[in-house]
Amino acid sequence: MSTTPISLDLNNIQGDILSGLPKKTQYYIFFKIQDAAKFRSDLAHFIPLIKTVAQVLKDRDDIDDHKRRGQPGLIPLVGVNISISHFGFVKLGIDDSTLAPNGTEDVFVKGQKQDAITNLGDPKRADGNPDWEDAFLNEIDGLIIISGESHATIEKKKHEIEHIFGVHTHHASIQEVKSIRGDVRPGDQSGHEHFGFLDGISNPTVNGFDTNVNPGPKSVDPGKVLVGQTGDPTPTREDWAKDGSFLVFRYLFQLVPEFDKFLEEHPLKKDGNGKDLTPEKGSELLGARMVGRWKSGAPIDVSPFQDDPELADDPKRTNDFKFEGERTSQLKCPFAAHVRKTNPRDDLEPDFSIDDRRILRRGVQFGPEVTRAEHNSGKTIHDRGLLFTCYQSHIENGFQFLQQSWANTANFPPFTGIGNATGLDPLIGQGDRAMSGLDPLSPQNVLPIDTFIIPRGGEYFFSPSLKALKENI
Ligand code: HEM
Repeated sequence: MSTTPISLDLNNIQGDILSGLPKKTQYYIFFKIQDAAKFRSDLAHFIPLIKTVAQVLKDRDDIDDHKRRGQPGLIPLVGVNISISHFGFVKLGIDDSTLAPNGTEDVFVKGQKQDAITNLGDPKRADGNPDWEDAFLNEIDGLIIISGESHATIEKKKHEIEHIFGVHTHHASIQEVKSIRGDVRPGDQSGHEHFGFLDGISNPTVNGFDTNVNPGPKSVDPGKVLVGQTGDPTPTREDWAKDGSFLVFRYLFQLVPEFDKFLEEHPLKKDGNGKDLTPEKGSELLGARMVGRWKSGAPIDVSPFQDDPELADDPKRTNDFKFEGERTSQLKCPFAAHVRKTNPRDDLEPDFSIDDRRILRRGVQFGPEVTRAEHNSGKTIHDRGLLFTCYQSHIENGFQFLQQSWANTANFPPFTGIGNATGLDPLIGQGDRAMSGLDPLSPQNVLPIDTFIIPRGGEYFFSPSLKALKENI
């Protein structure tokens, strides 16, 4: 970690990266560049719409102010960001092999489709392609994210952007290949993903930006998420890449009725203290042990056998855990639980630094709430899931490593003493999902886990700084 003070130019960094665009609803617009020269000149009109980190922070202050004064309604806030894929850079005639840390061999240059086939373990079609929606099997050059507080505001902004790029005219510089609308879930489920668990709690805090530092997982240097900043593991990239970040997008469908049915069919009979559980409590504990947190967000490493909403509400305590003293035990939290697989905290420290493995997760839910018919039948009828998005300065250290070397690897972490019985991440692991540690009284028992999350698309993008968008693209 650096000791020199870090100063970040918050006016140069796209807002979603460090602060997340404030949102109730978002459009993800995937596009192809049709006319590179016109795209460049249209971009000049688009850039003023981009929300930087500094502007997001100001918006937050305005919202707080609005609430403090007890003013009715919402402020019509809207935020836009843009990212370009390798294929987009090629169309624009920009050599991005210097941008990607491993040059032409980098997963960014190869694209996520190739990575899904070779490394990520996504299910495949008979033709060898990943079993994705067609739109994602073809080249995608860029992604525009529009974020706002109502459908009307993001719809209006979408039309404005389409007008800038001449979409629907003979002189369009881009073609929309797929648009997906995501919505934060309604009512008390706001902030919870579709299985019902509170999400977005344990993002790393970033030195030089966040003032409240996470107590449990260490904060990271900004170079773990921003290219060219202190702590960037690849300091050799060209200047124009500075303050940009790699955006990983995954289109992840969630089988919610099937997940609920699985929990109902495998309730734990007793908790780790030997106390009898009702079927309902037994199912709840099973779900919490698969994720590593209760639906409220309370970490099971701190409150292992019953939910504790007060703990979940306390920002100081909800991240203050490290699986300490549990390096070869899964009494409190299974080794393969989603949050332990994707951030093993003290399981790895101090032998390995996990700073290079931290990602900033964003994204939003898509699809409707589960209907009664779906719940009763235990079968998904309507598509729903997560538009998973995360930022990092190095995809192979970040998302790809988490997915391939941790979530998909049965004998990770390596110190458990039980090898492959440790198991795959029960949510996102690709392969023969099975894990031990779900029953705290018989942790050696291995339970096969059905499929609840299906990848149906994705791509790797780069979100350039404002300066790079203005001067180099
Ligand atoms: C944490 C759900 C996909 C990486 C979490 C949490 C939930 C969750 C409920 C706990 C809340 C929190 O700690 O913020 C899901 C669902 C997914 C999904 C439903 C798919 C539909 C992914 C993917 C990755 C990932 C694809 C990366 C490969 C992480 C990380 C954490 C996390 C790094 C934080 C762990 C920590 O620092 O303690 N996820 N997740 N997740 N997830 Fe996921």
